[in-house]
Amino acid sequence: MWPYPKVVAHRGGGTLAPENTLAAMRCGLDHGFHAVEFDVMLSKDGVPVLMHDPEFGRTVPGKGGVAQTMAADLLQMDAGKWFSETYTGETVPTYEMAALFCQQYGIWMNVEIKPVPGFEVETGKAVARLTRQLFSAALPANPSLMQALPLFSSFSFEALMSAKQETPGIPRGFLTDTIQPDWQQRLQALDALALHTNHKHLTPALAGAVKQAGYGLFCYTVNQPDRARAIMEWGVDAFCTDRIDLIAADFQ
Ligand code: G3P
Ligand code: MG
Repeated sequence: MWPYPKVVAHRGGGTLAPENTLAAMRCGLDHGFHAVEFDVMLSKDGVPVLMHDPEFGRTVPGKGGVAQTMAADLLQMDAGKWFSETYTGETVPTYEMAALFCQQYGIWMNVEIKPVPGFEVETGKAVARLTRQLFSAALPANPSLMQALPLFSSFSFEALMSAKQETPGIPRGFLTDTIQPDWQQRLQALDALALHTNHKHLTPALAGAVKQAGYGLFCYTVNQPDRARAIMEWGVDAFCTDRIDLIAADFQ
């Protein structure tokens, strides 16, 4: 069961734009993508922002960490210059800004809840609460409005449980690098819609088992068209890609 798009732009615009920025989502749109994955963590004052790394230094300059920095300061940070001069001045967006952008342009969101270690419960709760406010028109979950709702995913089982407790009507996908023997118990406990996993460790047998159990199956991060075709033959429903220039949104 997968009511969402099949190809999703990873971190906004894949490798074509600075990750987790609004510019990345504009770039995705320019390539025909109306489905996006991005990462969300909490600032010191509990505001969900788009960011992959808990520590500064890679996509934003300087030393320090997201959990030790107020949102007002994070929002001033340059998240584009590391990528290229063209994107200098592109700042860190809040999750709310990203979600409003996506709503405006009809972009479906896979919101990866990426807690700073130690903040799993708070992050799941804050992201779920804000999402409920932003998508109140499509809640409580109504099958005909399902595609209008984002899908949460996380490597953190605790964060997803917290999101479930806060807003059970927003669907969840459990993220795991390798599929562990207890995958089905985890999905059941989360009342999850899908399993999200690294395509590099997936096998046809595992893919078949997940599909047989009635779950959606999503892979990250698939950057070669041949590989995308192969895993879809195994039953994979959807995947995210960094190569939105090589793999089109309507990829078959
Ligand atoms: O959500 C899929 C993928 O984004 C997970 O890995 O490290 O790119 O966030 P990462
Ligand atoms: Mg991610």
